[in-house]
Amino acid sequence: MDITVEKSKPLKGIIEIPSDKSITHRAFMFSALTKGKCEITNFSKGADCMSTLKIIENLGCSIEYINDKKLIINAENALKAPTKKLDCGNSGTTTRLIMGILAGQDFNTELFGDESLSKRPMKRVITPLELMGAEFIHNNYKLPIAIKGKTLNGIDYISPLASAQVKSCILLAGLNAEGETSFTEPNKSRNHTELMLQAMGADITTSKNKVIIKKSKLNPIETIVCGDISSAAFFMAAGLIIPNSEITITNVGINETRSGIIDVLKSMNADIELLNERIISNEKIADIKVRYSQLKSTKIEGEIIPRLIDELPIIAVAATQAEGTTIIKDAQDLRNKETDRIKAITTELNKLGAEIKETPDGLIINGRTELKGNCEIECYHDHRIAMSTYIAGLICKKPIKINEFQWVNISFPEFLSLVNKITC
Ligand code: S3P
Repeated sequence: MDITVEKSKPLKGIIEIPSDKSITHRAFMFSALTKGKCEITNFSKGADCMSTLKIIENLGCSIEYINDKKLIINAENALKAPTKKLDCGNSGTTTRLIMGILAGQDFNTELFGDESLSKRPMKRVITPLELMGAEFIHNNYKLPIAIKGKTLNGIDYISPLASAQVKSCILLAGLNAEGETSFTEPNKSRNHTELMLQAMGADITTSKNKVIIKKSKLNPIETIVCGDISSAAFFMAAGLIIPNSEITITNVGINETRSGIIDVLKSMNADIELLNERIISNEKIADIKVRYSQLKSTKIEGEIIPRLIDELPIIAVAATQAEGTTIIKDAQDLRNKETDRIKAITTELNKLGAEIKETPDGLIINGRTELKGNCEIECYHDHRIAMSTYIAGLICKKPIKINEFQWVNISFPEFLSLVNKITC
């Protein structure tokens, strides 16, 4: 699906952002380990989470849809050997987390994914899992991967990467391993796994950047999933850079390990207010009000990077409208996402008239530049590049065409209808 994006009028109104992808993946997978029934409300309908749901179905769970927003996962007969290879689609989270679960089962499994996922590195999880006694067959640490189920032993793992996917994989393996498993990361990555496993009764403790887990059984729980701050980010940026906009985004998860974008935008002089702060299903939530602002440049590096890793492409778009030079460092792992996001966002925003240079681990963005548009944009099979360039298109002087915009469906199938709702 190729689409044309035109300069937008001010954005006005209230929107509810769809469900958090990271939390939905975890609710689906952890429910599969409970041997009971779990109700999940407001789950993500993006293709990535549907890949996870299909996999746990293939592992013996049955899914009952109560309505459009609510389902029950019955894991009384799970986990059992699947009768076919497991399809992870485009989803790195599905692959890396499920590997931690499957490595310690008493049956064998095979995982595969789409073209983009088959290029992504899995060594980061294979290495620590092998230290725990896991066994894999793979070619150069990439999908497809065969997993030979083994009895695992706990390890103390010091991770070179701050990665919630790696951390979650090892904690899930540790849940079913002999003894104690600890995971220490250089900076704290998102902690949805820790919060949900705690709520399900696992023996898990956290101090600073270290998490310790012991072999535990999980209790079934009800989960209400909040809105995804990574999806809200596109609308926050749009509200800030489209003159005279004022929008409120309701029901957004603002867990501190995910809310780096709010800190960064505030440091850029953004008019952002958090309203109605509350806790639902162990996660902090708020409504976020943003108004058009005169942004200024900033520097983004170090411990904040894992707190906003998925938001860097849209932050780059906002930085093109900020006075001065914005510098992003320490984000080399952006090159290992659905595409090389450093290269992709540099190439595509420069086509629009921005002034961006890529560095090995980040970006240098000179603002403020007028985006001229009048060109064709590629999204590299990457949902976040698709949505970031769409938002940039809303401030371009001339229309732009985005090729293969359907990649948006990976995380945010409701994106275009929500844009229409607040475009007056
Ligand atoms: C995710 C963690 C992040 C993020 C991804 C989702 C998760 O990856 O980029 O979109 O749900 O755990 P890393 O932890 O590998 O940085």
